[in-house]
Amino acid sequence: MCGIVGILSNKEVTPTILDVLKKLEYRGYDSAGIATIYNNNIKRQRAKGKIENLIKLINQNDLPGKIGIGHTRWATHGIPSEDNAHPHHVGSVVGVHNGIIENFREIKEELSQKGYKFYSETDTEVIIQLCSYFNKQGLNNKDAFLKTIKRLEGAFAICLMFKDDEKKLYVTKRSAPLVIGYGESDIYVGSDAVSLTNLINKVIFLDEDDVAIISQKETEIYNRIGQKIKRKKKSVEFNNEVINKGNFQHFMLKEIYEQPEVFTYATSSFINFKQQKIDMIHKFNEFDHINRIILVACGTAFYACSVAKYWFEKYVKVPVEIDVASEFRYRDNSFGKNEYAIFVSQSGETADTLAALRKVKGKVKKIISIVNVIESSIARESDFILPIKAGPEIGVASTKAFTAQLAVLACLTIYFSNRRGLLSKKENSELIDSLVSTPRIMSKILSKTESYKGFAKKLMKSKNALFLGRGILYPLALEAALKLKEISYIHAEGYPSGELKHGPIALVDENMPVICFAPYNDLFEKTISNVEEVLARNGNVLLITDEKGYCSLSSHEFPIIKLPKFSNFIEPIIYAIPSQLIAYYTALFKGTDIDQPRNLAKSVTVE
Ligand code: M6R
Repeated sequence: MCGIVGILSNKEVTPTILDVLKKLEYRGYDSAGIATIYNNNIKRQRAKGKIENLIKLINQNDLPGKIGIGHTRWATHGIPSEDNAHPHHVGSVVGVHNGIIENFREIKEELSQKGYKFYSETDTEVIIQLCSYFNKQGLNNKDAFLKTIKRLEGAFAICLMFKDDEKKLYVTKRSAPLVIGYGESDIYVGSDAVSLTNLINKVIFLDEDDVAIISQKETEIYNRIGQKIKRKKKSVEFNNEVINKGNFQHFMLKEIYEQPEVFTYATSSFINFKQQKIDMIHKFNEFDHINRIILVACGTAFYACSVAKYWFEKYVKVPVEIDVASEFRYRDNSFGKNEYAIFVSQSGETADTLAALRKVKGKVKKIISIVNVIESSIARESDFILPIKAGPEIGVASTKAFTAQLAVLACLTIYFSNRRGLLSKKENSELIDSLVSTPRIMSKILSKTESYKGFAKKLMKSKNALFLGRGILYPLALEAALKLKEISYIHAEGYPSGELKHGPIALVDENMPVICFAPYNDLFEKTISNVEEVLARNGNVLLITDEKGYCSLSSHEFPIIKLPKFSNFIEPIIYAIPSQLIAYYTALFKGTDIDQPRNLAKSVTVE
């Protein structure tokens, strides 16, 4: 993870570096720092904690210079501290890094034996020490940089400057994102293009192991075998979306409330209203021969895949395999030529998901990615991109991206089902109608949040919570538990309701909140039996059901939240909203840092 930025300009760079770092803060916020070169001297300021702390520091101590680099850190090696904060500086070299240097111990050992002293616990410092060592051995800056990179194993995006060269940035990337952006007269390097909005109009996406030496005159690029090559500059357009909280207290709340609109937008690329059918931008010609679909992702995106498994199995009648990317990439799994692999990722940069994608390349028929950032690595490396069009998601806890991922997966389900001739005209229309009705139902739920607030006031006092769901609601129980623990730091577990009696019921007593998702469907009665089992042990039940479910209950003597009427197909999409509201208000009442919870980062670009 971590966010990096570099700027070459004709004017002072520090204010712009700080602006870009603010936009990159989603990648980590354990510490931040900036270095510039001014009059052939390296100037540097670093601060533990968020970028605000760095801003305060710089307000007291000027950081002049027309070339500079910045970093916002998500700690991997070494605690969040000023010593471990980037940029790291040794001799005449200063640099920032995102990723993990896997062989850092070996290099550190070698340099230590030569008498080099290390001041931090980071893997990054070895890059700078090694480059400085090669410099001292007589290699010029470029050769020292190239020789350093050759020694590195792992995943990294690096940006270096040299004290005696106020005109150049030295960058490279391997399995970590890095773009070079071009403005009117300034040149930028950044972990993503969006953080450079309003600064650039052209961009170069580097390939794996590319090395670029950037000056105002030229961007020299070398490939992994050291040949000088050209990479195309692409025009970029940013929809001048201003990233702010509007009238909301947190980005997360704003994003929760954006969902009706985002859902409409996400499905509008697929729903052909005139012909009442789902269209796809891609033809998916091979689909008729596909005999398995593999879905891989991490975190919330994985729970979207888990929902899709239920949909694909029911409506497309195709075997589906799902896995979290960090397991999938190292398993001895086998693939077939008649399989589709689908990778779901909001950021499109999640390291494990990207590695999983690379694992199946050439081994499956086609790779589909469902992403929010269409310029991302995962998107660029797949055969078909299905964008979720959720707009920037700033809150670390994923909300609108989740329901937008479900929107696209639901459209894909209907499309594939029709391709197999499995839906009657009526069924097809009913499914499409239910997607069309989703934003209205979401809005209705969002207009009445009192019961969620009331429940959250009690939940905030608990140390643990259980979420239960059956069938397609099981992934939602997992997602609700993840949301709660991420932002309120309450330990929560999601369980299939039927599994309760196989162990977790031992945890149930009057102090255990048990939140049960019970839409009125084929499994409703069974779910209610599980609720009875909890009530019989004095468990603190909150039942979330719909109108039909509410009416069919024989007892209403425990807290119940009644949702409006909606069709079975969209159950997992609708239940996402209560899950998010419960987590949000619990965290709000506890007073935690909702948009940037401790230890997390928005984009997880390390293993
Ligand atoms: O960018 P991605 O969708 O690939 O991210 C995957 C997970 O890291 C992400 O969903 C994470 O679990 C969120 N913090 C959940 O709220």
